[in-house]
Amino acid sequence: MSVIENSKLTVVGAGSVGASVAYAALIRGSARHVALYDIAAEKVEAEVLDLAHGTQFTGSSDITGGSDVSVAAGSHVVVITAGAKQNPGQTRTELAATNAAIIRDMMPKLLDVAPHAIYVIVTNPCDVLTVLAQEATGLPSRRIFASGTVLDTSRLRWKLAQRAGVATSSVHAWIVGEHGDTEFPLWSTATIGSVPITEFDLPDGTRFDREQLDAIAVDVRDAAYKVIKGKGATNYAIGLSSARIVEAILRDEHAILPVSTVLQGFHGVDGMALSVPSIVSARGAVPLPGTPFSDAELTLLRRSADALTTVAGSLRD
Ligand code: LAC
Repeated sequence: MSVIENSKLTVVGAGSVGASVAYAALIRGSARHVALYDIAAEKVEAEVLDLAHGTQFTGSSDITGGSDVSVAAGSHVVVITAGAKQNPGQTRTELAATNAAIIRDMMPKLLDVAPHAIYVIVTNPCDVLTVLAQEATGLPSRRIFASGTVLDTSRLRWKLAQRAGVATSSVHAWIVGEHGDTEFPLWSTATIGSVPITEFDLPDGTRFDREQLDAIAVDVRDAAYKVIKGKGATNYAIGLSSARIVEAILRDEHAILPVSTVLQGFHGVDGMALSVPSIVSARGAVPLPGTPFSDAELTLLRRSADALTTVAGSLRD
């Protein structure tokens, strides 16, 4: 399949995350048409107007939207951001019951109008909601997946790049597992340029040691808590991460991104959505089975799976 012509992205939810996804997609030209859908009519109409007023400066994309689900008709990609957000100090999994009900209610309506779309779930806890939505809809797992740790991976690369004095895009390191408290970096394969992470000579003449890497991993894991404490929500970086995923789909890039699909037989994980490096194209997302994990990383992957299986299990009727 080649690049999708006249591509259409619908963003569901006009809160700060949804609006930021739409804004990032418009600025980056991620899709030819961007639609914003929310049941709150006044809010969504205001966001659409505000975004539309800037389209002189955003190239060839246009923005429409409203409170009727038909605004999503014919979408190639639907990004779901609707739902309750974390309050300061609240974990992502604490939102599970509320947001599972919202997603379950919404998916059939969206599938009615956008039956061929690829669905990207951003609403938290995104991994658990992806499993529930995949089970409820029966969609192939490549067509319904979560933004997962694409954002956390960007946070990690930024932190490492700052310390190493190199461009973020020259850091090759991944956060995998849950988008949340059990996520972890794949240090065993992390490199800066092609230099293994612990062998890279830092500008101050030292190298990363285990303690520093652990501290960076904790910082990345807890980054959203810090942002939420300060400004009530995270929105810009998740907006950009989501727009990047949308581009990989609509341009049929076969880009490798750590999105979260329901894994089957992936290093012993079955039936849970977790982020691992995955090929993202117009067909959706497929995990890269050859991704190497050290024994310690495998233990952490299974710990992520176990933690989320417990949350998902409590939500199945
Ligand atoms: C974050 C939210 C999107 O990590 O979960 O910023």
